[in-house]
Amino acid sequence: MNFAARITGTGSAFPKNRVTNSTIVKKLAKLGVETSEKWIRERTGIQERRISDLENPNERNSSLAFSAAQKALDMAGKSPEDIDQIIYATCSPDTPLPSSACWLQHKMGAYKAWGMDINAACSGFIYGLATAERFIRSGQVVTSLVVGAEVLNPILNWEDRNSCILFGDGAGAAIVEQTPEDSARQILSSHLLSDGSLWELLYVPAGGSNMEVTPERYAKKLHKLRMKGKELFKVAVKTLADSALQTLKKNHMTTDDLDWFVPHQANHRIIEAVANRLDFPMEKVLVNVDRFGNTSAATIPTALDEGNRDGRIKQGQTVLLTAFGAGLTYGSILMRW
Ligand code: UT7
Repeated sequence: MNFAARITGTGSAFPKNRVTNSTIVKKLAKLGVETSEKWIRERTGIQERRISDLENPNERNSSLAFSAAQKALDMAGKSPEDIDQIIYATCSPDTPLPSSACWLQHKMGAYKAWGMDINAACSGFIYGLATAERFIRSGQVVTSLVVGAEVLNPILNWEDRNSCILFGDGAGAAIVEQTPEDSARQILSSHLLSDGSLWELLYVPAGGSNMEVTPERYAKKLHKLRMKGKELFKVAVKTLADSALQTLKKNHMTTDDLDWFVPHQANHRIIEAVANRLDFPMEKVLVNVDRFGNTSAATIPTALDEGNRDGRIKQGQTVLLTAFGAGLTYGSILMRW
């Protein structure tokens, strides 16, 4: 028998602390960095984001993932013992090792599962879902838990107004289950791409074998995220639109066949520019960047969960997920919900 895969449950979790633009303006002012609520709102569309309290064990990366995963399991009517595989997308893990997947497995008591992390930055959930789909199609896995979770606060440079205003913390999860190959509801196709030549657009210089963190490098904040925002903006619009169109084309579809588009939530202006390029109405684009900022690998699963829970996404509808992120990584997944 041949198999396909489909999402049967989704869930999200965010830290409690709502950080409004007004709070950011005050925080940066104390550091001597100038910004304004108006600039942040108009240039990014972000109104607020959530930021983890690192002293609170419930707001660490795998704790947020745990909470999101429990909600996804409940929706799917499954328990932790049903999970065969945990694919955990993050670029801000609990620890360099062991993997966040192992932390999560331990927290959930999902001891039948094996797990691994994927670092494809903001494209992580797409990479993770595509990986789970392949394992399920091969028959080796029946039930997979795919997570996109980030606690980016520790790698943000609060003196860099270009980047720190964009990001937030959060987690999204999906239960992906085996279904017969001829099922109407399934992941139709997934398409992953990367271009390592564009690494300099978004990276963290120190903390790996390229560059150890020394006190001098720490003082220079080389362990913090660096971003070429303007260049990344242009690349983002192009790669998101191209990837979406290629995926539709490979499935002999056009944007007219799409019910929902769920792009990576980096900046509301990027989302609008992509919708514009695709000639696709914003009413059919799921957006949560206004309330949560850019949560990297968590943007797509949390936006998907929101649309799923509030009933906008209906059974049988066609949904396209498209992401880009540091690397550069990008890709799309097309599904019949
Ligand atoms: O998940 C992927 C992660 N990242 C992204 O996708 C980021 C993509 N890029 C962006 O979202 C936007 O490029 C930014 C939000 C980062 C910047 O917006 P922009 O409209 O591209 O601004 P810009 O870089 O062209 O800068 C315009 C001006 C500059 O001042 P001058 O040189 O014109 O005097 C910046 O210094 O805005 C200034 N600026 C700010 N002003 C107030 C940059 N950041 C701020 C700020 N507050 N926070």
